[in-house]
Amino acid sequence: MNRQNSLFYKSGFLLLVLTALVTCSAPDETNSGGNSSDVSYNLSLDVPELMVLVLEPASDILWDSAGWVLDASGYEELYPTTDEGWAYVRAQAAVVLEAGNMLALPGRAVDTDAWITYSNGLSSAGLAAMEAAASQNHEDFFQAGAQIYSVCTACHQAYNPDINSQFVAEE
Ligand code: HEC
Repeated sequence: MNRQNSLFYKSGFLLLVLTALVTCSAPDETNSGGNSSDVSYNLSLDVPELMVLVLEPASDILWDSAGWVLDASGYEELYPTTDEGWAYVRAQAAVVLEAGNMLALPGRAVDTDAWITYSNGLSSAGLAAMEAAASQNHEDFFQAGAQIYSVCTACHQAYNPDINSQFVAEE
C-alpha cells in the first residue's frame, strides 16, 4: 500500500503546484511589481543601462576573443591561449546568459511574448559560448559569438530599430 500512498501523495502535490501556478500567474499579467509571490527585484537599472553597463561589456569581450584579425603586424588569432584566458571568457558568457534572465524579469520585460523569446535566445547563446569556452573549441566559440550577435540585432530590430544603425556606426 505504500506505493499507492505515494502516488496519491504525488498527484495531490501536483494539484497543489498547479493551483499555485494558476493563482500566481493570473493576477500577475500586468503587475510589474511581481509581489504576488513575495518576490521582489531591484529594477533600478532600466533597459538601456542594463545594455550599456552589463550586457555590452561582456559580449564585447566575447567578440574580441573570437576569430582573427589581419593588421600591419600580420595575422593574429584572437582566441584565448591560456586556461585562465578561457575561464575569463567563460565568465563573460555566463554574464550574457544571466542578462537574458535579467531582461525577462517582470517589470523589465516589455511584453511576455517576443521579448521573452529574444531574452531566452540570448541565454541559450550565452550557454553555448560557456560550453565552447569550457572545451576551448574555437569554431563553436566563434559560432556562439555570432549567435549572440544575431539575437542582439533581432531584438533591436523588433523593439528599437534605431539601435542597430548606432551599433554598426560604433564599430
Ligand atoms: C530582449 C531584447 C534585447 C536584446 C536581446 C538585446 N537588446 Fe540591446 N536594447 C534593447 C532595447 C529595447 C534597447 C533600447 C532601449 C531604450 O532606448 O529604451 C536596447 C539598446 C541597446 C543599446 C543602446 C543603449 C543606449 O545607450 O541607449 C546597446 C549598446 C545595446 N542595446 C546593446 C546590446 C547588445 C550588445 C546585445 C546583445 C549582446 C543586446 N543589446 C541585446 C533590447 C535588446
